[in-house]
Formats: sequence, structure tokens, C-alpha cells
Amino acid sequence: MEKALNAQMTQEAWQAQVYLSYGAWAEGAHYAGTSDFLYKHAHEEREHMFKILKYILNRGGKVKVDAIQAAPADPKDLGDCLKKLLQHEVENSKLIDHLADLAHKERDWATLNFAQWFVKEQVEEETLVNNLLDLYVLATTKKDGNVNLYELDRDIAKASQEATIPQEEKF
Ligand code: FEO
Repeated sequence: MEKALNAQMTQEAWQAQVYLSYGAWAEGAHYAGTSDFLYKHAHEEREHMFKILKYILNRGGKVKVDAIQAAPADPKDLGDCLKKLLQHEVENSKLIDHLADLAHKERDWATLNFAQWFVKEQVEEETLVNNLLDLYVLATTKKDGNVNLYELDRDIAKASQEATIPQEEKF
């Protein structure tokens, strides 16, 4: 279990490198908003790494800080960037599931409980990237000459749930 936790700790460090490298690519490609998002997420991945590091030590285990493999090649474009991030998250979810599976097999209930946090986190991470992909599709798909659907979608998100009718207007 200790070995598997250490491996996942290194995996999360690598995930941080992925977001960092894609963030640098996005900044270089003039996507300031995207790079900001990706840099922030690189920090989040390092937090995941630290959670595992702390857990190993908390349970009396030995932490092994290992080499991290190189970040992947730059994506081709923004769509490719988001699709690849989703693939990374799906792959990471499988590794987390494996961790939970191992904890269950070893009847290590404390680690199974710990792994559950990551199971939930991975659902969130996949949803987050999927939502960004949805926005990308809206922003890049032209339908019947509509104006930018991404802008429209963003405005709808911010729209008030209340509408003022003439009887309630103040003049
Ligand atoms: Fe720590 Fe995005 O997985």
C-alpha cells in the first residue's frame, strides 16, 4: 500500500507538471485566461501530491520523493489542450480507482477512506474539464450564423433569475 501511495504521489506531481507546461504553452499562444486557469490548477495538483505525502507520514509510512517524467509535448491548439487534459484526468481516475481497489483488497480501511476523497475529487476534475470542453465547442461551432454562442452562454449564466414586469417598474 505504501508503494502504491508513493507512486500516486509522484503521479500527482506529474499532473502538476502537465498543467504547468500546458499553462506555459497557453500563455505563449496568447490565451491569458486559460494559462491563468492552468497555472492555478497546477497548484491544486501539487496540493493533491502533498495530501498523499502527509497521509503516508501520518500513518507511519516512508515517503519516497521520486523522479517525475517529462511533461508531454505541447498541444496543437486550445481544443487539443482541453481534450488532452481530459484524457490525463480520466487516466488519473483509473489510478485512483486502483488505489481504492488495493486498499479494499488489503482491508486497509483507513486508506480506503482516504482514497474516497480522491475518487470524488476525480469526478469533479473530469466534470470541470468536460465543462470547459463544452464551452470550447460552443465558442468554435457556428450555427445558422448565430453570434458567438460562448458569449451568449456566459451571459445566460450571469442572468438574473428575476425579471421586472411593467407593473413593478420604478420611474
Ligand atoms: Fe490530482 Fe487532476 O488529478
